[in-house]
Amino acid sequence: MPKSREIHLVQRPTGAPTPENFALVEREVGDAADGQVLVQNLLMSVDPAMRPRLTAGQALDEPMMGGAIGRVVQSRLDGYAAGDLVSHRQGFREYFTSDGKGLNKLSPDPDLPLSVHMHALGGTGFTAYGGLLHIGQLKDGEQVFVSTAAGAVGSVAAQIAKLKGCYVVGSTGADDKAAWLRDEIGLDAVINYKVQPIRQALEEATPKGLDVYFDNVGGDHLEAALRRMNTLGRIPVCGFISGYNSGHSNVGNLSNIIYSRVMLRGFVAPDFMHLWGDFLRDMAGWLKDGKVKYQETVRDGIAAAPAALIGLMAGENSGKMLVKLAE
Ligand SMILES: NC(=O)c1ccc[n+]([C@@H]2O[C@H](COP(=O)([O-])OP(=O)(O)OC[C@H]3O[C@@H](n4cnc5c(N)ncnc54)[C@H](OP(=O)(O)O)[C@@H]3O)[C@@H](O)[C@H]2O)c1
Repeated sequence: MPKSREIHLVQRPTGAPTPENFALVEREVGDAADGQVLVQNLLMSVDPAMRPRLTAGQALDEPMMGGAIGRVVQSRLDGYAAGDLVSHRQGFREYFTSDGKGLNKLSPDPDLPLSVHMHALGGTGFTAYGGLLHIGQLKDGEQVFVSTAAGAVGSVAAQIAKLKGCYVVGSTGADDKAAWLRDEIGLDAVINYKVQPIRQALEEATPKGLDVYFDNVGGDHLEAALRRMNTLGRIPVCGFISGYNSGHSNVGNLSNIIYSRVMLRGFVAPDFMHLWGDFLRDMAGWLKDGKVKYQETVRDGIAAAPAALIGLMAGENSGKMLVKLAE
């Protein structure tokens, strides 16, 4: 009967989360009962969407919700065997028992590392793919801006736009991430918004305006992009990370939506699940051909999970932020 350590939210943050908001709790986990599996988590996903849930949505004194990949270590449930890999959203803990609800069997691509199923070939990659191609209606050769372009979603969105022959500007908040975007990914222009004011830098980087802005940030980035939108431009609104700690995001220039007839649409990945098969085929091919590159920031052990989430909100990650629990 394994012991499991798990991360609980014990106090709701005001502003940026701090270590005091979380506790590491040890629990006995029973063996799998009839109709159950016992799962050991291997990799946990650390996502910006966890931050708004710390204010509302995440229960106190319960394991933090979140995506993970685990391995079945005992099965008394039809259809599952020890050794099966599963993805799920039962998150920040080492072991748990399940009746199978919310578990998805994972058949990892044998030619790619398992971890890519947590980002480029998983949820964040699919968000970029559908957000850009389906919601953003990207056309070959267009003028594109992607914010948080060195992050998990942004780096895939920026590279898909490059694969479609677009002129692509990316923004980030660190020089090493900017160098990766310029030198490894080959973006046409890169803005470090902590060094150059985003409004002026975006104006200089987009002489032909913008047809598509893939928005991960909201606030000042959205405001700057709205000034540069071409007629009938599209803004797939993926995230508003600049407002997650404060709970609000001020955006000026909204009247440009009218003058430039801009389509601004929020979305979540379930909006385009019909593209999942196309996505897996395209993305696996791009990854294997080296046409889509990725970075990972991996923290070790369950105790590191709160610092990983705090660090994600502060920009400590290059690419996908993960916590590794076991091989
Ligand atoms: N709609 C959906 O279905 C969906 C699904 C997944 C993610 N999302 C959204 O997509 C966005 C990116 O998520 P991700 O998982 O790929 O995270 P990520 O970009 O890998 O990591 C978050 C990054 O945000 C940047 N950041 C933090 N505070 C910022 C601020 N005030 N202004 C500008 N940038 C800031 C930091 O990068 P820098 O160092 O470059 O500043 C940080 O590394 C988030 O807004 C998230 O909520 C939406």
